[in-house]
Amino acid sequence: MPAPPDDARCCTAEVRSIEPCGDDAVLLRAVPERELGTVRASRFFMLKRTDGSSPFVPRPFSLYRQRGNELEFLIKVMGRGTAALAAARPGDELRLVGPLGNGWPTLDGDGPPWVMVAGGVGSAPFPLGIEQALAGMDGATPCRPEELTLVFGARTAGMLYDLDGFLELGVRVHTATDDGSAGFHGNVVQLLQQLWKSGELPERVRFLTCGPERMMEAVGAVAEERGLPCWYSLETLMGCGVGICNGCPVPTRGGGPLGAWPNAKCCVEGPVFSAAAVTIGHEG
Ligand SMILES: Cc1cc2nc3c(=O)[nH]c(=O)nc-3n(C[C@H](O)[C@H](O)[C@H](O)COP(=O)(O)OP(=O)(O)OC[C@H]3O[C@@H](n4cnc5c(N)ncnc54)[C@H](O)[C@@H]3O)c2cc1C
Ligand code: FES
Repeated sequence: MPAPPDDARCCTAEVRSIEPCGDDAVLLRAVPERELGTVRASRFFMLKRTDGSSPFVPRPFSLYRQRGNELEFLIKVMGRGTAALAAARPGDELRLVGPLGNGWPTLDGDGPPWVMVAGGVGSAPFPLGIEQALAGMDGATPCRPEELTLVFGARTAGMLYDLDGFLELGVRVHTATDDGSAGFHGNVVQLLQQLWKSGELPERVRFLTCGPERMMEAVGAVAEERGLPCWYSLETLMGCGVGICNGCPVPTRGGGPLGAWPNAKCCVEGPVFSAAAVTIGHEG
């Protein structure tokens, strides 16, 4: 039975700053009351405000950046939970559970280049991932900036959140928007095909993807067709975040590395899964 990570704790945190980001998101920085070690990118925290303005059940968010003990989250306003967090002010108190989940595989510079495919707020697990890949986490060979490509798609320019922050990291960045308001006019899979055709992307790459399911499914299909490794960071609904409520099932792939059990728990076995391990297809 998968268990919550040993380093996960529940504690309070003080909001230090909150800034608008893009059309409908904020960047929220908070400092927890206890010291955290370095958190692997694409792990997450369950967050809520303690003043009663948040729903009872906290909501999950990827760690966007970590500066010492200051944690930064990119929060897109979707409903009550995210609206309450986005309305927080410096000095407000949060309840925070984490770090939870597994995080990206070790992003080493020993194999084919990494291509990170983000859709909208699905960009959230990538800034820390890029920083850790460039630094060489856990003794891994650091990646050179040219070995890291972000392919960032969104409905419209204002949903390419914190694009300048990505450009500052010095990696290759390609953007696409559905309405043509920035970058390539089309979706990320069409952009990937164009990058291959123009020779801007090597034939052999390793994919990491996070965003709308339909986008990740399409990226997974391209990776499978070309025999390339691919990992998803999934965003299911979550109740507890620690493996108790069964609220976050992800169908496993028959004959895949997760064995015969039909579902995995996204919160404790994910949120990162190898594309060989799970099925994220849409119905209809
Ligand atoms: C591991 C993980 C990491 C995440 N990281 C981030 C992050 O870094 N930044 C961020 O903005 N969001 C992130 N999310 C999604 C975020 O948790 C949800 O948007 C949030 O829980 C919505 O809460 P709410 O109360 O505002 O909306 P609700 O009132 O609960 O829902 C409002 C609407 O949003 C939809 N919705 C709710 N949750 C999701 C979801 N997970 N995926 C798609 N649609 C959803 C609902 O179906 C409903 O239509 C993450 C989710 C997971 C599981
Ligand atoms: S969110 Fe409760 S089991 Fe995963």
